[in-house]
Amino acid sequence: MKKHPPLSPLDRGAQLGCEPKSKIQNLKLLKGRLVLNCIVNIVTPQLEKIHSGKVRESFRVDAQTRLIVATDRLSSFDNVLETPVPGKGAVLNQLAAFWFENTRDIIDNHFIKLVDPNVSLVREATPIRVEMIVRGYITGSAWRGYQKGKRALSGADMPEGMKKNQPFPTPIVTPTTKEDSDREISPKELVDEGWVSADIYKAMEKVSLKLFERGSALLEERGLILVDTKYEFGLIDNKLVLIDEIHTPDSSRFWSKENYEADPDNAEQLDKEYVRSYLMKNKKDGVYPNTLPDDVVQETTRRYRDIYGMITGELLPQIDENAQLRLHTNLVKHKIIKDGFVAIVMGSTSDLDHCNKMKDIIEKYDVKVELRVVSAHKNGEDLAAVIADYKTSLEPVAVIAVAGRSNGLGGALAANLPVPVISCPPFGDKTDLMVNINSSLMMPSNTPAATVVDPKNAALLALRSLNLPRLREVFTKKIEAMKQDLREADKTVRGR
Ligand SMILES: Nc1ncnc2c1ncn2[C@@H]1O[C@H](COP(=O)(O)OP(=O)(O)OP(=O)(O)O)[C@@H](O)[C@H]1O
Ligand SMILES: [Mg+2]
Repeated sequence: MKKHPPLSPLDRGAQLGCEPKSKIQNLKLLKGRLVLNCIVNIVTPQLEKIHSGKVRESFRVDAQTRLIVATDRLSSFDNVLETPVPGKGAVLNQLAAFWFENTRDIIDNHFIKLVDPNVSLVREATPIRVEMIVRGYITGSAWRGYQKGKRALSGADMPEGMKKNQPFPTPIVTPTTKEDSDREISPKELVDEGWVSADIYKAMEKVSLKLFERGSALLEERGLILVDTKYEFGLIDNKLVLIDEIHTPDSSRFWSKENYEADPDNAEQLDKEYVRSYLMKNKKDGVYPNTLPDDVVQETTRRYRDIYGMITGELLPQIDENAQLRLHTNLVKHKIIKDGFVAIVMGSTSDLDHCNKMKDIIEKYDVKVELRVVSAHKNGEDLAAVIADYKTSLEPVAVIAVAGRSNGLGGALAANLPVPVISCPPFGDKTDLMVNINSSLMMPSNTPAATVVDPKNAALLALRSLNLPRLREVFTKKIEAMKQDLREADKTVRGR
């Protein structure tokens, strides 16, 4: 096997606060951290998050397409570790892409393209809520059941006299339902309970076995064993397609042939075993550690990259020092998000015209604008939810606060957000302005809201504060043109 170049040093960087919703405690901790060379969590106000799993995040792009992000989170013993593993998401995502491309002759799938090492654009399907598990060997939960005398699993027979980790005479399909806790179920029950029609189930079964055969054959050539795996299917335009992921370490068990043949009873799962044994060795008072030390992280990265190399025969590029920046660049390049974002937050919809003036100007510069309504005085408790995404977003963000008479909004936003906040209070006439402007100008300490009276200027300041190189170039040209105009005007009035 090819040798991989040494890894770049790990940077487990700064901490940033954010409060995503999650039922898993560690995931919550992990998602609040920014680790520069990892994709831990994706936050952008420009994409609607539709699903958050232990490892992957799914976003809606439009009605037909979704974005699946394989993060660098690692789950072991049903727990998401606080320490991410650089490169793991890229390995998983690109392995799935590799298999999707290499099995399209068996069945069409949802994969459209890679937009980033960690991210795939896929077609939205109507998912069939069944996991098609294919097992080539008796291990894990199947073996545990077998030891207790079980001889049928989800309607599939398991012959007498089997030993741990032994191959089945031919691979078996053991479906489960996709519910809060997956349930073993026979094909007949799946049909009777209405999870899937008999015809579609038959097709899924046939395809699953073909995919398993293809996967096993390819891996066998690389000295690997596909022990078991699961497939998910969906319908697109009434046609059965493969969705989710395929033959990745998170959806499959891989053994090395060499390791298996030396001691079948203790065959090790290629990806998980190393981290698991660290966790077991360091268990304290019956509790596994939540974090991994740097050397274990680096070795885990190496192992995932090795698996990728073994399966595809290709080397993965180096781990990026700044994965967030790379992701931002790639999402913009593929036109999935705009490179900058301005939120215009108004206290009430009576200020809508004032806000729309700014929105029109900003959008001319191809920056995404979102209008929000929240009043610092009247429903200030909702402010946290409104701004949650802006704090740690992938793209540069600026906020314009629009509140009249008594502007609490600009201050509340500036005191809570680490991004530029500009107050642009609307006013009826100059007297109105003079009476109320102080509530925008006078801010408490550590509350750096700027105040700009003219909406056009506020829009331009918001754009400049994004500090996007492409906009700097645009504004430089505009500044030059303005100077030129003045010089021309001077010549004209002077008459020479
Ligand atoms: N093309 C698609 N169209 C619609 N749904 C899809 C598509 N591809 C995958 N899915 C669904 O998206 C979800 C992906 O979930 P994900 O794997 O991130 O988390 P999970 O399965 O809920 O939990 P876990 O973290 O334990 O795996 C699955 O429910 C899968 O069925
Ligand atoms: Mg899943």
